[in-house]
This record gives sequence, structure tokens and C-alpha cells, in this order.
Amino acid sequence: MPLTMEQMRLVTRSYAQISSSPHPYSEIFYYRLLLNHPFARALFPDDMTHQIFVFSKTIDVLVENVANLTRLRPTLTDLAKKHVKYGVKAYQYAAVGTVLIDTFAELLGEDFTREAREAWELVYAETAGVMISAAYPEN
Ligand code: HEM
Repeated sequence: MPLTMEQMRLVTRSYAQISSSPHPYSEIFYYRLLLNHPFARALFPDDMTHQIFVFSKTIDVLVENVANLTRLRPTLTDLAKKHVKYGVKAYQYAAVGTVLIDTFAELLGEDFTREAREAWELVYAETAGVMISAAYPEN
């Protein structure tokens, strides 16, 4: 389901605020992910420096293309296929999305409105949907 103009604006604006934090949000995201989901600890390397960087670069690209996420289909398909090789399962996408959005909520406090959360949930659902259907055709 495509985002409304208002949802695109909420995503862009909240992400600008999240990214301006002196503490990279993706570091907090991985801290929460690895703490709360033991399955993830087993998949990632001990040194997360590179991962913290590349993950947030990918989210940057999602936000830059929020008006036309279908343009990212080829990139997301490649990324999803790599994830299969890393041992990632389709059902694990939901937990990762929840941790990401909860991290944004923690960082923005009351600025992260219900509408902003719903807009991010749509962005993630769209992204994960493309990745899962590309890499796990049985789903
Ligand atoms: C929208 C969702 C996701 C995005 C945007 C994303 C992004 C990325 C990126 C950019 C990389 C580096 C890829 C490369 O090697 O070039 C990566 C690697 C990886 N991701 Fe994800 N990811 C997502 C979902 C997940 C999920 C659900 C899991 C499950 C735990 C996961 C686990 C991993 C693992 C294990 C690696 C490889 C780490 C390594 O060995 O270096 N990712 N991810």
C-alpha cells in the first residue's frame, strides 16, 4: 500500500531528527536487537562496526526513495538473497522491524507520534515484503 503525502513527510521529518542525534541510532538498534533476540546474536559477527554503518546507509536510501519504494525492488532483491546466505529466515523480519521502530520511538520520545509510527510501519512492511517475496518464494 503506497504511503500518503503526509506519511512521506512524517517519515522524512522524523528520520532527519533521528539522524541528527550524536549517537548513531543504528548502534542502539543493534544493541537492542542482539540483547532481546538471541537468534540475531548467532547470525552477526562480534565486531558490528561495519554493520552499524551499512544498515543505516540502507535506511537512508529507503527514506530518500520513500515516494517511490518500488524503484528499490532490484536493490532489495539482491540484499534479500544475501540475507538467505547469512542464514536469515523470513519470520525474523518482523522482530527486526519492531526493534527498529521501537528504537526510533525511544530516541524521539513524544515527537514520535502514532501517525509517525504508522508511517514507519508501512515503510518497513513494504521493504520487508519485497525482500521476503524475492528471497523466500514459498512465503
Ligand atoms: C529491511 C530489513 C533489513 C535491512 C535494510 C538490512 C540491511 C542489511 C545490510 C545493508 C547488510 C549488509 C549486506 C552486505 O553484506 O552487503 C545486512 C547484513 C546482514 N543482515 Fe540485514 N537487513 C535487514 C533485515 C535483516 C533481518 C530480518 C535479519 C535477521 C536477523 C538480518 C541479519 C543480517 C545479517 C546476519 C547480516 C550479515 C552480517 C555479516 O555477517 O556481516 N537483516 N543487512
